Amino acid sequence: MRAAVLETSPGALVVQDVSVDAPGPGEVLVRTAAAGLCHSDLHFMEALYPTPLPAVLGHESAGVIEAVGEGVTYVAPGDHVITCLSAYCGGCDFCLTGRLYLCSNRAVLERAPGAAPRLSRGGEAVNQFMRLSSFAEQLLVHEHAVVKISPDMPLDRAALIGCGVTTGVGAVFRTARVEPGATVAVVGCGGIGLNVVQGARIAGAGRIVAVDVNRDKLELAQEFGATDVVDASQGDAVAAVRELSSGGVEYSFEAIGSKSATEQAFRMLRSGGTCTVIGMIPVGTHIELHGPDLLSEKKIQGSNMGSNRFRVDMPRYVDLYLQGRLKLDELVSARIGLDQVNEGFQAMKAGSVARSVIVF
Ligand SMILES: NC(=O)c1ccc[n+]([C@@H]2O[C@H](COP(=O)([O-])OP(=O)(O)OC[C@H]3O[C@@H](n4cnc5c(N)ncnc54)[C@H](O)[C@@H]3O)[C@@H](O)[C@H]2O)c1
Ligand SMILES: [Zn+2]
Ligand SMILES: [Zn+2]
Repeated sequence: MRAAVLETSPGALVVQDVSVDAPGPGEVLVRTAAAGLCHSDLHFMEALYPTPLPAVLGHESAGVIEAVGEGVTYVAPGDHVITCLSAYCGGCDFCLTGRLYLCSNRAVLERAPGAAPRLSRGGEAVNQFMRLSSFAEQLLVHEHAVVKISPDMPLDRAALIGCGVTTGVGAVFRTARVEPGATVAVVGCGGIGLNVVQGARIAGAGRIVAVDVNRDKLELAQEFGATDVVDASQGDAVAAVRELSSGGVEYSFEAIGSKSATEQAFRMLRSGGTCTVIGMIPVGTHIELHGPDLLSEKKIQGSNMGSNRFRVDMPRYVDLYLQGRLKLDELVSARIGLDQVNEGFQAMKAGSVARSVIVF
């Protein structure tokens, strides 16, 4: 099959032939229909985060089950599925307390050491990225990495639920638990931030302030539900948000992966407010807060994949889309082929797209 491989980091992807094995016990083979480009892939391509190489990148996808391994009863060939990197063991402390996104025993979802690799070329193993490797014509994954969805759902838009929607909307619903009427600021309105904005709209937030340095993103944010916008390239974004929200917001979100934007998001809070950091801040970077701010009970927390229970959450997001309440059509700025994957990441860096989706 054709797949996009990261050979060296920093580096670009190289589209080439990679072999995929037959599904073993507990595994499913998925014919990839679509895969979205998320900034997290780019962080690994830019060596801001480490991953074993060579690896087939990509982690936001949807497709159709082609074959299942021994013991798999959850899905059958022909079923439509969304993949999720939050594959769960089902038996660790985190899984058993409803926090499968923090599962601490994912090794049991991998093949045993010494077994044939899931992905290979010329007889040598190619690493699977985040237990998925979505930039490929087929995915061979553990059954705990997929959720079955309605065949009515278009698969190119379903792919976006695999990371961006679940991360952004989930950060609002599940990590921060924003309540109706609350004030919200969203710093960074790319694929993730726009989903935070629409999550806040669906949750009934009263005021939703979108912050970005790109005018087009701010316009899109208004379409997704932002009540106010702040162009961070024009002066002090913290002061602007504090003024718009009469002294600070109850919930702020960082969706960039930047030290300074995280510090800004924290300073946008009113007393008692909560800052939720979604962006992947580069390894080795420390963030600085003004200690006395904690006396006013300001809080800061991380959010991993929207604190999801994806087999419950993703079908709900599908329903919200099919009812017209979750915007996904507007999120797809470009549909591209696998061969254009590097151009897709260039467009992300240039800020000209919300999401590019590879259609197979
Ligand atoms: N925590 C998780 O589970 C999780 C999951 C998925 C993605 N992420 C991370 O979320 C972050 C965002 O991902 P994305 O795919 O939306 O990226 P993106 O590139 O699509 O969007 C980033 C946005 O930030 C804006 N921006 C850049 N610098 C800014 C600044 N100084 N002030 C205001 N806005 C600024 C850009 O214009 C762009 O609109 C990344 O770090 C990604 O790795 C985290
Ligand atoms: Zn992602
Ligand atoms: Zn677990």
